[in-house]
Formats: sequence, structure tokens, C-alpha cells
Amino acid sequence: MDQNALKKAVAEAAIAHVERGEILGVGTGSTANYFIDALERIRHDIPGAVASSKATAERLERIGIEVLDLNMVDYISVYVDGADEINPALEMIKGGGGALTREKVVAAVAKKFVCICDASKQVDRLGRFPLPVEVIPMARSYVARELVKLGGSPSYRDGVVTDNGNVIIDVWNLNIAVPRQMEERINNITGVVTNGLFALRPADVLLVGTAEGVKTVQAKG
Ligand code: 5RP
Repeated sequence: MDQNALKKAVAEAAIAHVERGEILGVGTGSTANYFIDALERIRHDIPGAVASSKATAERLERIGIEVLDLNMVDYISVYVDGADEINPALEMIKGGGGALTREKVVAAVAKKFVCICDASKQVDRLGRFPLPVEVIPMARSYVARELVKLGGSPSYRDGVVTDNGNVIIDVWNLNIAVPRQMEERINNITGVVTNGLFALRPADVLLVGTAEGVKTVQAKG
């Protein structure tokens, strides 16, 4: 099975986690897009969804699902999204598609976070994938210097402007021994909007596509 077939299989499996009649959170990226495709057949059971990016909002509207402003929503039952890396504690690196801040906000509001990915995203330790950091444009150089002090090699994602009007710095070579600590340290740099570590709010469930089928991993504790 190729990677896209695995992504499609987990996206289909995630439909079983959608709570009918409840507001859904929907992520961003190619795996999330397969999930939106799968949602079409149950769209009448979904009163509305909160999107983690403009691209996802457009896609949801195209299949007839109402997109809601998060400020108008008390809670989100389930958030379904992909990841760039995920470790055994279900902590993730996200933001390869640049939507990390809205993804983190929607994840924070959701009662349950279901991560969907193919097996290539599973790692023992986070950090081979460069960590995306969303930064206010005027702070770009300052934040890059601070990231070097943390041991990283920052690289400006040229030409990319996020849905929030900010820029992205991808950080290579970070030593992410304790993901929660690194998430907090980077978020404390003035000018950082947020970083792509999802350790303070990890996934609750992982659906992973493997050659042997879709496997489910529940968060421990
Ligand atoms: C976007 C993300 C995506 O979830 C992540 O990049 C995975 O993408 P894909 O499903 O295309 O592999 O965090 O900001």
C-alpha cells in the first residue's frame, strides 16, 4: 500500500470516532483532506464544524458542512487531524502545512483529539522533522537568534504567510528530550505565536495506517 492509501484508510476509520449531532473540529493537510472526503457521506449528521485553516474551511463548505466561528461554539466534541511526527506518548510535531496555531487552538477546545496518520509518522523521539514556529513578522530575526541559543538551526520558510498573517521558521536539529519543556521554552520567546510541538495537549487516540491495517493506540493514563 502506498502512503496515500494508508492516509485514506485512517481517514475512513476516523469516521467511527465522529460524534453524530455534535460540533466537530477538522484539521489541515492531506490526511485531513481524505477525512473531509469521507465526511461527505455523513454530512447530514454534523450540525457544524470548526476548521483549523482557511483551506479546510473551504473544503468543508464545498461538501455542504457549515463552518462555525470558534467564538460561537461552547465546545468541540472531537478534533481529527494529522501529524508530521508522533511519539509513543502521542505527543506530536505539527505545522508542516503551516496551520499550527489554529490547529493548536482547536485542539485546546476539543474534548477528544484523534490523530490520523500513516506509519511513517511514528517516531520514538520527536525532532527529526524540523519544528515549525509561527512568528510575528517583525520578530523574525530576533526569534531566530533565540532559537539558535536553544541549539536549533532555524530556517525561514520563504514566501509563506500563515492564515494569521505571520511567518514560519522551521527549526532543525533541536534536542527535544522533554517535549513539554521545549514547547513551553519556545512559546516563551517574545514574538512567537506558537510552536508545532503538541505535548501540553497531546492526542487522546492515534489511528495509524500500516500495511497490516489501521491500528488504534490509546493515550496512556
Ligand atoms: C498541517 C499539519 C498536518 O497535520 C501535518 O503537516 C500532516 O500533514 P499530512 O496529513 O499532509 O501528512 O500539521 O499544519
